[in-house]
Amino acid sequence: MADAIAEAHTRKGTPLHNGDEQLLAAAVRGAKSVLEFGPGDSTQVFLDAGVERIVSLEYIDKWLEVARERFKDEPRVEIRKFTDTLPVVAETDEQFDVAFVDAPKGWPLQNRHKHEGYEDCSRFNTTLFALQHAPVVYLHDAYRPLERGTLGRLNAMGFQFEFIDGTHLGLARITRRNVIRPDSVDPQGAQESRSPAPRPKPERGRVPKRKRSRGRPDSEPVSA
Ligand SMILES: C[S@@+](CC[C@H](N)C(=O)[O-])C[C@H]1O[C@@H](n2cnc3c(N)ncnc32)[C@H](O)[C@@H]1O
Repeated sequence: MADAIAEAHTRKGTPLHNGDEQLLAAAVRGAKSVLEFGPGDSTQVFLDAGVERIVSLEYIDKWLEVARERFKDEPRVEIRKFTDTLPVVAETDEQFDVAFVDAPKGWPLQNRHKHEGYEDCSRFNTTLFALQHAPVVYLHDAYRPLERGTLGRLNAMGFQFEFIDGTHLGLARITRRNVIRPDSVDPQGAQESRSPAPRPKPERGRVPKRKRSRGRPDSEPVSA
């Protein structure tokens, strides 16, 4: 098992990208509880940031076992299973201060599981679940086309988002401020928008320090 853990956290492309740790630590500053989809190095970042309770959800049995082994001595972390379905089925009805979505993997070349009507999205199911359990949700890899599809759908439902600068594949901060009754949002309500969120143009030669762009802040909420 030790080898599996070592392999899991050294394989290229799986861990956090450069700069992500600092952004995630800042994202959970002051938070007591965090809900996470996709345990791993990010979970350790939240522990190091002083979060008191982390529920981290995994859907693949192999990685569930790896994560449970890695955090078995850490009472602040609970690793639980979820199903990669729409809607997500997961063992939690708690509310959290912040959520972080880094699963499912969602890359088309890696046998991504598609949900009918949401083929242009990745992590829509887990991000929507997270928004129903936390007022602020951070979506990892948010510049990728399918994650932008998810941001576009959520924006059409009345959720707001902004891209946070300083990470390779993007980090989006999504809030449910405008949604009147988030628990009763019907995912089908997003069907009306097929437009992915626009990708901000990166500035060449330097990493900008400030937030780059926002999803339509004055969008009307979709009544549930
Ligand atoms: C990008 S990983 C989660 C990473 C985690 N948030 C972190 O910061 O290390 C997303 C999903 O990929 C899968 N996964 C984890 N480790 C993996 C590995 N070494 N190779 C392939 N897939 C992996 C798991 O299903 C996990 O939920």
